[in-house]
Amino acid sequence: MSKITTLNEFILERQKDFPFATGELTNLLNDIAVASKIVNRDVNRAGLVDILGAKGETNVQGEEQQKLDVIADDAFIAAFKSGEEVCGIASEENDDFVAFDDEASKNGKYVVLFDPLDGSSNIDVNVSIGTIFSIYRRVSEPGTKAVKEDFLQKGADQIAAGYVLFGSSTMLVYTTGKGVNGFTLDPSIGEFCLSHKDIKSPETGRIYSINEGNLDRCDPGLKEYAQYCREDDSSTGRPYSGRYIGSLVADFHRNLLKGGIYVYPTTNNCPEGRLRLLYECNPLAFIAEQAGGIATDGHQRIMDIEPKELHERCGYYVGSTQMVEKAMSLLKHKEAKITV
Ligand code: AHG
Ligand code: MN
Ligand code: MN
Repeated sequence: MSKITTLNEFILERQKDFPFATGELTNLLNDIAVASKIVNRDVNRAGLVDILGAKGETNVQGEEQQKLDVIADDAFIAAFKSGEEVCGIASEENDDFVAFDDEASKNGKYVVLFDPLDGSSNIDVNVSIGTIFSIYRRVSEPGTKAVKEDFLQKGADQIAAGYVLFGSSTMLVYTTGKGVNGFTLDPSIGEFCLSHKDIKSPETGRIYSINEGNLDRCDPGLKEYAQYCREDDSSTGRPYSGRYIGSLVADFHRNLLKGGIYVYPTTNNCPEGRLRLLYECNPLAFIAEQAGGIATDGHQRIMDIEPKELHERCGYYVGSTQMVEKAMSLLKHKEAKITV
């Protein structure tokens, strides 16, 4: 039997590269793994117990909350609170950030921003969903309560980021800025095991992922790009395959491994875009770049955007470098450029 490397072993091994590391980030990543297993358990039996469907409330962004959105949010917050490495969190499901007020957490070095359940419209129909997280070092003084500035940092300042995909298997993929590694949950032993070492995304691919229902509402250049993807051209492998699950984390993961582009543009009816900069776009941009891809909002590198609000949204173009560059080259808005 080949040797299994668990997530825990892998993180501890990596910690040796940082002789002054205190182990707090290691513990924090382990807290995330434990919370993921709890959410995984709930997701897997969702149809059997009364946790499918809407909760009957809307979140701060006016979106209907699903019961599992709230279950996942609570599981991660509980893990971060008891872990004591984190002084506060911000999540898509909470109106404002939460500053933990117990003494141990106030000494925590980190803040975490997360989308507890991504793809929530897919929960009720048994389609892949996920959790996305982003970790920053706080900018406020340790020992005090977290403040808004701790959360409004640009993506380039992320210490670590990752996602958990509840798909045909459950995977945790993360980066600390030294490459991307993926771990598959082996349910028989309850451990995330290294399955995708040092993930590199192909420079180009044959998959484009966009909600085509929005094409008449966005930059006309994107319609041209979709047309380009559909054209027959054997030298570039076109037509490409259109693949759109509607769970960003699942669409992103597929394109990361196979090569592809994911686009959620700004539209006439969502002029700021749909996806959230802090909970969705930044963490996946960090992973994309670490795997050799790029992420832009159509104007600038995602991770260079200075956030002004917690729930800020933006247009999103992420994936294989050559494909994102091609889409950018066709956009009509004057400022269209990529700086990475
Ligand atoms: P969330 O479930 O966290 O609100 O995110 C949903 C996002 C994203 O996962 C997905 O790619 C996109 O919304 C789908 O939007 P459309 O249904 O408009 O295509
Ligand atoms: Mn989401
Ligand atoms: Mn969500």
